Amino acid sequence: MKPVRIGLLGLGVVGGGVWTVLAQNGSEIARRAGRSIEVTAVAVRDVAKARALVGPDVRIVSNALELVSDPDIDVVVELMGGDTFARACILQAIEHGKHVVTANKALLAVHGNEIFAAAQARGVMVAFEAAVAGGIPIIKAIREGLTANRIQWVAGIINGTTNFILSEMRQRGLPFETVLAEAQRLGYAEADPTFDIEGVDAAHKLTLLASLAFGIPVQFDKVTTEGISHLASEDIVHAERLGYRIKLLGITRRRPDGIELRVHPTLVPADCLLANVEGAMNAVLIRGDAVGLSMYYGQGAGALPTASAVVADLVDVARLQMADPEHQVPYLAFQPEAVVDIPVLPMAEVHSSFYLRLRVDDVPGVLADLARILSGAGISVGSMFQQPHGDQQADIIFLTHETREGDVDAALQVMQKQSFVRSDVTRLRVENFS
Ligand code: NAP
Ligand code: HSE
Repeated sequence: MKPVRIGLLGLGVVGGGVWTVLAQNGSEIARRAGRSIEVTAVAVRDVAKARALVGPDVRIVSNALELVSDPDIDVVVELMGGDTFARACILQAIEHGKHVVTANKALLAVHGNEIFAAAQARGVMVAFEAAVAGGIPIIKAIREGLTANRIQWVAGIINGTTNFILSEMRQRGLPFETVLAEAQRLGYAEADPTFDIEGVDAAHKLTLLASLAFGIPVQFDKVTTEGISHLASEDIVHAERLGYRIKLLGITRRRPDGIELRVHPTLVPADCLLANVEGAMNAVLIRGDAVGLSMYYGQGAGALPTASAVVADLVDVARLQMADPEHQVPYLAFQPEAVVDIPVLPMAEVHSSFYLRLRVDDVPGVLADLARILSGAGISVGSMFQQPHGDQQADIIFLTHETREGDVDAALQVMQKQSFVRSDVTRLRVENFS
C-alpha cells in the first residue's frame, strides 16, 4: 500500500518529537496502520535548524502555505501553535481535501466550530488527540470508550506547567519564578507562559472536553478562568494542614439548569487520586452514569508524550482515510446535527465548598461576628482554625460546607466592610468529588 505522506508544519518541541517517534517506531507503526507514514515535507521559519534534524532528503519550506495545497501531501500536521496563521493553514488544507492533525488547543477552543464545520463539509478528518492532556488518549476515551454513557462531570489536571509549579512549590518550597523557568526549559510551557499560569491553556482544553462530554458547541469565551499567579504559598501550607492540596483544575459538570465550565485553583482532599498527581503529569477524572468513576493519568506535556498522541491520530487517519465520511467517528463525539446549546451557568449559581482566609484584629467578638455573617448568608462552616499574626492580629481560615457561590460572595462583601478585617479575603473553591 502507498505510504501516508505528511506535511509537518512546525518542528519544535512537538514536531521534533513526532519526527523522532516516526523514526524510532516507524516499522511498528506501519504494522498497526497497514501502511507506512512518511514525512514528505516540513515547514519552519528557521530552515537551517530544521535541516540539521531531518537531514538532506526531506523537503523544507519556510512558507507553510506551500504545503497545504501540495498534491504530494495527504495529511497536514499543524504543530506551529498560534491561532491566526495556523487557522489559515488548516482551513486551506481542508479546502484542498487534506486530512488535518493538530495539537493546537488554543486554535480549536476558539475556532473549532468553524474548522469542524469546514472539515465536515469537505469530508476530511481533523484529529486533535494531542490538544488535551498531552500523551493521555483522553479524547479517544471520551469519544469512543465512554460513548455508552451520559457523562455527569469531568474534572482534571490538564496543564502540566502549573501542576509542575504547584508540586515544586509544595514539595521543595521553591519560588514560583524559579519553577516556571524550569518548566520552560523542559518544553512544558506554551510560547507565552501566561497561557499556562493564568489558566488559559487549561480553559482551552476544558472547552474541548466539555464539547466531547456533553455534545455542546466549542465555547471558550464562556469558561470562568482563574490561574495560579495570585496563589499565596501560605494557602498551600494551610490547605495541607486541613488535609487538602491545591491543584489547578478544569471542571465541567452537568446540572439540571445548565453546565458548569470553570478553571481555578482548587483544594482537593490529600488522599484523593487527583491530589497525588505531581509534576507535569496530567489526570482526568470522569463520572459517567454507566461506568461510574474512571481516571486517566499520564504525561501531560513534552516532546515524546505529545508526539505519541499526534502519531496515534496519524494512524487513525491512515486506517480511516478510505472510510465514507458519514461513517467516520464524529470530531466532537456527537453527530454534528445532534450538538445542542445547553446554557453555561454563571459562577454565582455554581455550588462547592470554600476555603476562606482573612486577617483580623485578634480581639473578643471577632469570631462571633464572622460566624454571624456566614450563617446570615446561609453558609455552614465545616471547620476553622486561627493562626496568630504578631501580637494583635490573627489569620482565620474557614472551610465551609457546600454552598452557592453567589451566597459566599455576598457574605464576603459584608465581611470585607468590617473594621476588624485587615486583609482582602482569600477565597478558594474546594471539591471533594464524593
Ligand atoms: P515550539 O517548540 O515553539 O515549535 C513551534 C514550531 O513551529 C517551530 O518549529 C517553529 O519554527 C514553527 N513555526 C512557528 N511559526 C511558524 C510559521 N509562521 N511558519 C512556519 N513555521 C512556524 O512549539 P511546541 O511546544 O512544539 O508547540 C506546538 C503546538 O503544540 C502548539 O499549538 C502547542 O500548544 C501544542 N502543544 C504543545 C505541547 C508541549 O508539550 N510543548 C503539548 C501539547 C500541545 P522555528 O523553530 O523555525 O521558528
Ligand atoms: N503548556 C501545556 C502544559 C503543554 O503545560 O500542559 C501541553 O498541552
